Amino acid sequence: MAKSRTQFICQNCGSAHQRWAGKCDSCGEWNTLVEEGTNSGIGSGPASMRSARKGRVVALTTLSGEIEDAPRIASGIGELDRATGGGFVRGSALLVGGDPGIGKSTLLTQAAAALANKGHRIVYVSGEEAVAQIRLRAQRLGAAASPVELAAETNVEDILATIADGRRPDLVILDSIQTLWTDLADSAPGTVTQVRAAAQAMIRYAKSTGAAVVLVGHVTKEGQIAGPRVVEHMVDAVLYFEGEGGHHYRILRTVKNRFGPTDEIGVFEMSDKGLREVANPSELFLGERHAKSPGAAVFAGMEGTRPVLVEIQALVAPSTLGTPRRAVVGWDGARLSMILAVLEAHCGVRFSQHDVYLNVAGGYRISEPAADLAVAAALVSSLTGLALPADCVYFGEISLSGAVRPVAHAQQRLKEAEKLGFGSAVLPLGSSKSGEDVAAGANGTGANSIGAGAFRP
Ligand code: TYD
Ligand code: MG
Repeated sequence: MAKSRTQFICQNCGSAHQRWAGKCDSCGEWNTLVEEGTNSGIGSGPASMRSARKGRVVALTTLSGEIEDAPRIASGIGELDRATGGGFVRGSALLVGGDPGIGKSTLLTQAAAALANKGHRIVYVSGEEAVAQIRLRAQRLGAAASPVELAAETNVEDILATIADGRRPDLVILDSIQTLWTDLADSAPGTVTQVRAAAQAMIRYAKSTGAAVVLVGHVTKEGQIAGPRVVEHMVDAVLYFEGEGGHHYRILRTVKNRFGPTDEIGVFEMSDKGLREVANPSELFLGERHAKSPGAAVFAGMEGTRPVLVEIQALVAPSTLGTPRRAVVGWDGARLSMILAVLEAHCGVRFSQHDVYLNVAGGYRISEPAADLAVAAALVSSLTGLALPADCVYFGEISLSGAVRPVAHAQQRLKEAEKLGFGSAVLPLGSSKSGEDVAAGANGTGANSIGAGAFRP
């Protein structure tokens, strides 16, 4: 038997420390070090415990023809299949992360039911809820009659023994990784060592049997799933399920995907009968629009391959503070400061005596720099008290020199705007490069600098 020593493992980033400390040297988080055994069960046993077995090498060239596209199991839930890149991939492991209560179990129960109804063998292993509770949820979702196999287990070895019975499963869902534990590791469930060892065992199971494995992981309030950084790099794909408090819709965002694109989103709405797909997110995000009020600009954005129109709202109000306030929801605060500085320096618009609040409607989050122009338009509109034309969309990246740079997919953005009844667009000149024709689609207005004319209301 190996002599078991203990180490202190950071529960946030997974780094190992010899001594306890209040703060992790690697990630800088406080109070995250927990004492754990070093025997994680993953290659840490003495070499004498197993004898080496000779593997097989194959030439890359001989593989062509043998392997086609990754074999997938499509759930038939369009938004989920879009986020996974076409369905669950056989023999791969997928991590679905999200805040507790966001709807991960609901989504996967619906997916499991849809797949089981198509004749696939689906095993749903829950370490959080009893079988009766899962059945209650399934009843609520109208999926109680589908032949999903349920198990309430937390020990990995027991789980593997349970699912070894009968036909090989097509999909195994483990809800959640924080409840899993394996005999091979001697730490408490939920610790980095256990999560890593348990996930490793399930990933090995997926690779060796060809079943798709879905691991569900809770995000802690710091924004990271407890121990999930360790899992994130082990799995083939990572999806995050997000939503804003007070809003019913949920966004399934692809963060990593070894078999597909990473910038896709799936949009759902939580109802009393489970999650409903939202096929046209723009309509949802523009639903509560007050087109006539100053400070609102519609941004024609892109999420992966899909255009998404969303309203950007700005409030610029005289400040009584020495240092005016800048508050942003749904966008990057540093980016807002940059746009304010550019407007001051190049357009002579002064914000230094004003508080600035910026909000992306509906609790949506934008990461594209293409939103710069819409933000600038909303800011100037609020400052001047003049509403922007209601039928106009904006997109374009603003550089520090005050130039508006072209962004990708201009054509698709304009098409979506036209589809939703917008008649004009303010976009950078030169967006028509790379084969995209700006003149077609909405009635584009070119702008190559953010001088006064570009977005006069
Ligand atoms: P759940 O899937 O249990 O969340 P997670 O697994 O991510 O922790 O979802 C729980 C929430 O969803 C809960 O607040 C109730 C709500 N809900 C509905 O609004 N409608 C439904 O049909 C279901 C099943 C849940
Ligand atoms: Mg759950």
